[in-house]
Amino acid sequence: MNGAILDLAVAIPHHYVSHEELARARDVEVDKYQQGLGCEEMAICGPGEDTVTLAAEAAWRLFEHHPEARERVGLCVVGTESGVDAAKPVAIYVHRLLGLPPNCRAFEVKHACYGATAALQMASAWVQQHPKRLALVIASDIARYERGSAGEPTQGAGAVAMLVGKAEERDALLQLSPISGAFASDVYDFWRPPYQSEALVKGKYSMNCYLEGLQGAYEDYCRQAGDEPTPDYLLYHVPFPAMARKAHRRMSDLRGLSEDLYLDDLERRVEPALWANRKIGNVYSGSLYLALAGLCERKGAHLIGRRVALFSYGSGSCSEYFTGRFGEGIYRFHRHLHSVLEARTEVDVDQYELLHDASLKMERNHSFQPALPHQGQAFTFLGIRDHERCYRQNFAEDAVALSNARPTALHHTRPFQRA
Ligand code: CAA
Repeated sequence: MNGAILDLAVAIPHHYVSHEELARARDVEVDKYQQGLGCEEMAICGPGEDTVTLAAEAAWRLFEHHPEARERVGLCVVGTESGVDAAKPVAIYVHRLLGLPPNCRAFEVKHACYGATAALQMASAWVQQHPKRLALVIASDIARYERGSAGEPTQGAGAVAMLVGKAEERDALLQLSPISGAFASDVYDFWRPPYQSEALVKGKYSMNCYLEGLQGAYEDYCRQAGDEPTPDYLLYHVPFPAMARKAHRRMSDLRGLSEDLYLDDLERRVEPALWANRKIGNVYSGSLYLALAGLCERKGAHLIGRRVALFSYGSGSCSEYFTGRFGEGIYRFHRHLHSVLEARTEVDVDQYELLHDASLKMERNHSFQPALPHQGQAFTFLGIRDHERCYRQNFAEDAVALSNARPTALHHTRPFQRA
């Protein structure tokens, strides 16, 4: 038996801009964004938020509901393509901010939007050897494209934290099947050189690479799985919701479904997962798992016993198609997506541009400008001092309980020693 996702939680930035506003400002027909791309709102990171705070906040939300799980974590992996340092992984900041046990493997996995899937598969195998321990897998990303570019409306940000363990099939939220199909191909469809803050992308070509990856991974899966009943739900990587529709069109073609059947099938098996992606935007490595959280929130206990297929695509590229079955662990899932969405503040395009600039400036200038925490924000990125990133735990009491060792508010260690 493979490992299982026991529970998952989502964190998102505290601001968003609507696509209606963005379309007006860019002089584009709003239907292009809303119908053509399937987007309604886009999450925007402010200067106090980064890949680390999003990752830590998602995990913190998970441990809020499972405080006993923290001390069992022996593996902490963050899948991200917007890491904050070329050497130091996001996972080690999370490890510290959450007070995870010292006897723990903590590292980062990068392969564009595929990183978290590689981490999840690795964790799923690891828990077989460590059945009493738990793995924490987090997908955390900030999707940034150049302002005014075709990619701009497909930005977003967020994190999804997953607790992975060995469970009886009934007790899992999602029991992962050991079979998975993979497909790799060296392409330049979307990438971010180290000297760039925003991704470079060949938009249309990237969509073809995605579909090629889907077909390659799915065919590999079918060769191994043989005749299996079709899954009850399909979750695709969601750079923008209309891409999931295109992916399902390709899958339907592979299965020989007519247009009428495809549309009905799309509504029934794909659409129920996409509502949160429409309101948050691309979360790169987290988009697929945001769709999983969206499905859990929308369908709840109805999912028990149902099968789901997941397709992960990372530009560059690596693709994976795998499946799982929902169990009674779905009762563990705390439906929080609606409330975190409602707690956000809407900004107009001018404010979005200011936030965008301010957070990039903090990175580029290595500046230290503590931002006030937003209501409910668990961790704040304070800035960079002496080349070290500083974070604050905003819940002082919880900070003590979380870290046990260091009730200090400011996570800043020895100054950087220049040679
Ligand atoms: N009303 C309704 N629909 C409209 C419309 C209108 N007024 N105007 C245009 N549309 C439709 C178009 O017909 C099109 O739909 P179809 O693809 O079904 O034909 C859709 O809106 C988009 O229009 P365009 O193709 O003209 O859009 P564009 O060229 O400006 O940009 C994009 C689209 C290439 C996806 C761009 O947003 C982009 O580069 N995004 C980033 C790259 C990306 O997300 N790639 C996905 C695969 S790679 C991946 O998945 C990894 C990852 O996370 C990045």
